[in-house]
Amino acid sequence: MQFPEYRARRLRKTEGLRRLVSETRLSVSDFVYPLFIVEGKNIRRPIASLPGIFQLSIDEALTEARLAYEMGIPAVILFGIPTQKDPTGFAAVVKDGIIQRTVNQLKKSLPQLVVVTDVCLCEYTSHGHCGILQGEGVANDETLDVLADIAVSHARAGADIVAPSAMMDGQVGAIREGLDENDFSEVPIMAYSAKYASAFYGPFREAAQSAPQKGDRQSYQMNYANSDEAMREICLDVDEGADIIMVKPALAYLDIVRRAKEEFDLPLAAYNVSGEYAMLKAAAAKGWLDNDRAILEMLTAIKRAGADIIITYFAMEATKLLKKG
Ligand code: PBG
Repeated sequence: MQFPEYRARRLRKTEGLRRLVSETRLSVSDFVYPLFIVEGKNIRRPIASLPGIFQLSIDEALTEARLAYEMGIPAVILFGIPTQKDPTGFAAVVKDGIIQRTVNQLKKSLPQLVVVTDVCLCEYTSHGHCGILQGEGVANDETLDVLADIAVSHARAGADIVAPSAMMDGQVGAIREGLDENDFSEVPIMAYSAKYASAFYGPFREAAQSAPQKGDRQSYQMNYANSDEAMREICLDVDEGADIIMVKPALAYLDIVRRAKEEFDLPLAAYNVSGEYAMLKAAAAKGWLDNDRAILEMLTAIKRAGADIIITYFAMEATKLLKKG
């Protein structure tokens, strides 16, 4: 095909033509909506760096989840902020922990909503690291049992999917084994397989009060310079029993999303993280970006790169925009 026989502009002439030949269709069915849960009642506390996103008490989370569900959003992912933090993250495993109670109530009132839980320690440990500390470092193997216990307690509360995000080696295998031994062989694992040590998690750490007190996460999260390593990480998780794989963050990592899509045939999630949301919101607030257009462009690009599932703080807003047409 060559100009002037072929003219690419022919199919761009009208809205109808453009829609007809659109290769990627963003849909409400793609979205997972993150919720931050705190203790208390009637709490809907704004998060400064994530305008439009709140820390919610369980009752408010139920209301928000119902709204999302009624709009057609298929899933939420839960992050708990306990009142008590200690060095071992004990509050993460207890039966009446914040996430366990939230899951329980969500499944009672909205049985069809897919409830995903983040399985990690950083929101529960006083030091803010994603595992048990030994000296200055996070002890990998000692953390595995705890992660498996957390996942089992989430499954027991009724979680539909558990999503380990601690980036410990062997975490998917340990969790699969724990789930299977406790009669939860049907609970799938969404593995944060290629999770990078990223500056774009900043606002999340404010929201979840989970910034490490000392040091950073570079000894367990991935170096953003690496792509082959991401494929190795995903490969390990697939072998250990992951049902869904994930690349995180999304925007600066669309090459990784594309590569993962081409090299693996499991459902692929991309996490459009807090910093990506914050950047867009900050620029839009200044009038430097068109909020609505930028949201749809960003999310469509993530899908175009190969994501089957998009975890995004824009879930509600994007759904409204898609409905508007
Ligand atoms: C827990 C976890 C984090 C995010 C999701 N799960 C924080 C971190 O690793 O520091 C970040 C999500 C976001 O920035 O939106 N480990």
